[in-house]
Amino acid sequence: MDFKGRDVIAIHDFSTKEIMRILDVAREMVPAARGDETLLLLPGKVMASFFFETSTRTRLSFEAAMKRLDGKTVGFSDIQSTSAKKGETLADTVRMAEAYSDCMVIRHYNEGAARLAAKFSSKPVINAGDGAGQHPTQTLLDLFTIREEMGDIKGNRVVLAGDLKYGRTVHSLAYALSMFGVPMCFVSPPTLEMPSEFVASVKDRGVDVVESHNLAEAVEDADVLYMTRIQKERFPDSSEYEKIAGSHRVNMELLSGAKKGMIIMHPLPRVDEIDPEVDERQNAVYFKQAFNGVPVRMALLSLVLGAKG
Ligand code: NCD
Repeated sequence: MDFKGRDVIAIHDFSTKEIMRILDVAREMVPAARGDETLLLLPGKVMASFFFETSTRTRLSFEAAMKRLDGKTVGFSDIQSTSAKKGETLADTVRMAEAYSDCMVIRHYNEGAARLAAKFSSKPVINAGDGAGQHPTQTLLDLFTIREEMGDIKGNRVVLAGDLKYGRTVHSLAYALSMFGVPMCFVSPPTLEMPSEFVASVKDRGVDVVESHNLAEAVEDADVLYMTRIQKERFPDSSEYEKIAGSHRVNMELLSGAKKGMIIMHPLPRVDEIDPEVDERQNAVYFKQAFNGVPVRMALLSLVLGAKG
């Protein structure tokens, strides 16, 4: 396994063996991610953090990950403050990242932007979300969370629910779970179903997949419920959003029909799709999941920058 210098654009850039290695390294990183230990793995290294689209968790956890390893960060979180605003091409912006840093983390509103960025950089490029495309590092922390909470990735039945059309986290996660042979149920409001190319690629792997519009029925035999928000900003017509908003909601009543051990995940931010009273439940793990972004991104940065093998 050789991670040094690699780009991370889509989850299937990795094999299942490589994914497990990243999750193992992430587990070693937990004490340092909490600040209970010091790990000086990336002294003098600089990560460029280029966020053309809003972010809270992904950006902050990447920056925290780099700093916990004694590295540094440069970058922007607001396109208004950059030359992209003056009409600079992505290719030229990427060339600057290459000149000023050792790796680049990019979030962009266009699908395919990270893949394009990687073409113009000889240094590792990590996709932190490209439009409605993929979000591979979120998937790594989702898999880490499932493994830590359930003991294994395999052997679970996973419900992916919410906006499966525009939600990039569920695109990458469905793909990854299919690599591990995990049976899934895709639950969405009508019109926001999982795009057919993702359904086809998951089914091609021989994985048992059910598509549904009924969340209450789907949670009955689930071990993991992965809820997502409706991606309002990606709707071409906002009246279409208004029709669907609030149609799927996780509350105590819905959970009364679920298995006791079922964990509830969410990449966050949530809007109204999980009732705050659910937060008190022991197996509502979405805030732990958000923390897991730090050790998982520490693992990834140390591997692609060659501080770990
Ligand atoms: C997600 C994203 O940006 O795709 N957030 C995240 O990175 N944790 C999910 C979302 O915005 O709904």
